Amino acid sequence: MAFPIQARLVEMSPRDGLQNESGPVIATDIKTGLIERLADCGLTHIESASFVSPKWVPQMGDAAEVMAGIKRKAGVRYSVLTPNLRGFENALAAGVDEVAVFAAASESFSQKNINCSIAESLERFLPVVEAAQKHKIPVRGYVSTVLGCPYEGEISPEQVAKVAKDLADMGCYEISLGDTIGVGTPLKAKRMLEAVTKHVPVEHVAAHFHDTYGQALANLYAVLEEGVAVFDASVAGLGGCPYAKGASGNVATEDVLYMLNGLGISTGVDLDRLVATGRWISNVLNRHNGSKVGQALQP
Ligand code: HMG
Ligand code: MG
Repeated sequence: MAFPIQARLVEMSPRDGLQNESGPVIATDIKTGLIERLADCGLTHIESASFVSPKWVPQMGDAAEVMAGIKRKAGVRYSVLTPNLRGFENALAAGVDEVAVFAAASESFSQKNINCSIAESLERFLPVVEAAQKHKIPVRGYVSTVLGCPYEGEISPEQVAKVAKDLADMGCYEISLGDTIGVGTPLKAKRMLEAVTKHVPVEHVAAHFHDTYGQALANLYAVLEEGVAVFDASVAGLGGCPYAKGASGNVATEDVLYMLNGLGISTGVDLDRLVATGRWISNVLNRHNGSKVGQALQP
């Protein structure tokens, strides 16, 4: 077992975090303030918004304003979700650096989340990927419900591998494997990854683990042992998925960073600044800080 020297953190809080906040739509300047603070922490990949239907996810309805409002930092990639060609065109007009398409390993979740079957979603993503390639915009692909589905329960690793392969074959440069409802455990995560890496090289795989059952860090460590070096995380553990009832946020970025620092794996991210950012956004949203490290390092 050899750990990587470096890992890349993909910050999810402005998108996966804020998309799930109930109550009134969060002001655009809070969103841009969060993104700018995250960039100042040294994060180089920030998922900043979603160009989805505002009827489906009202919290992301100001995606164009968010993208226009950010004071951009050189070297930072500002990415967004694009469920269809319309979303891509709006994202392109907003000057995004990267887009992401999102499929599921579960038919029921696909229907609830994007109102179509897995096969239909892949058909819909193809023109998005083609258009993105034409504009030299990298496309990331998500597979949701890789370790369990809120509607179907168990999901087979082979089903995850099939969708991951389809997205990679289509042209997604990286496949992010989402434990959308945070039900996975380490051995299950390894088995799922083993099935995926038969088709997609581990260098092109990212782990996107939610922490509903407190297993996210353990699952992340399990796939780190198998060579994954890209981790999606959300400051203060913000978030959840509006179409996965009860799911809590992504693993907290502060907690992942503390673990990686302890393992001697470099990320270029400053822990103190990140903790301060987690504390700031938790206060602004009047929300419990979901990061253990953030709580431990409270002044
Ligand atoms: P639909 O209702 O089947 O499609 O939605 P539609 O074409 O009939 O569109 C419905 C309405 O939305 C129409 O408006 C469209 O014009 C409009 P109306 O005519 O009724 O006034 N519309 C749009 N508006 C803005 N931007 C667009 C767009 N497209 C259509 N791009 C659709 C299909 C995919 C649009 C919808 O289901 C949707 O937006 N879903 C998004 C759901 C979502 O964002 N979920 C959360 C993100 S996924 C996630 O969190 C998991 C992840 O983190 C990984 C993990 O954790 O596992 C990635
Ligand atoms: Mg997610």
